[in-house]
Amino acid sequence: MTHAIYPGSFDPITNGHMSILESGLVSFDRITVAVLNNEKKQPLFSVEERIEITRSAIETRGLDTSRIEIDSFDGLLVNYCQRKNATVILRGLRAVADFEYELQMANMNRHLNTDIVTTFIMANDAYFYVSSNLCKEVCRLGGDVSKLVPPPVDARLLAKLKPGK
Ligand code: PNS
Repeated sequence: MTHAIYPGSFDPITNGHMSILESGLVSFDRITVAVLNNEKKQPLFSVEERIEITRSAIETRGLDTSRIEIDSFDGLLVNYCQRKNATVILRGLRAVADFEYELQMANMNRHLNTDIVTTFIMANDAYFYVSSNLCKEVCRLGGDVSKLVPPPVDARLLAKLKPGK
């Protein structure tokens, strides 16, 4: 049984994240979507909201929920992986811009724990330009992100950010 941890801020989860998760399910038996609990990052959605929105997005997409856990974590990611008995960290890569940051994190995590391996999956090219931050900005300014995020996420973004709210 290969158990991968898919960590992130997921503030909120996008179609890019969903495509990584779907591809990850081809390679790994179990995936834990681990939502970073760090209020210092001043997220738009609380960690409880991010978990609930992520769960709803996964159910709406019809993914195999028996193989997916949604959890939150704080502190060092490698310590969380160890607590969960997971040996793989799953991360998505979009453009080259992601590469340097991801390489740095993967090497730091390897330095901290050599038993845990970071694996990258390329995001679906339809979502190469999609990020949670850009979706929030576009929605805040009245733009349509309904094709870039799962339906429950679009509804939650509109409820929080639609101009005039
Ligand atoms: O979605 P994000 O914001 O790119 O995810 C970043 C995340 C959560 C993977 C990263 O910030 C993280 O692992 N934080 C936990 C703290 C940690 O372990 N830091 C040292 C490793 S670089």
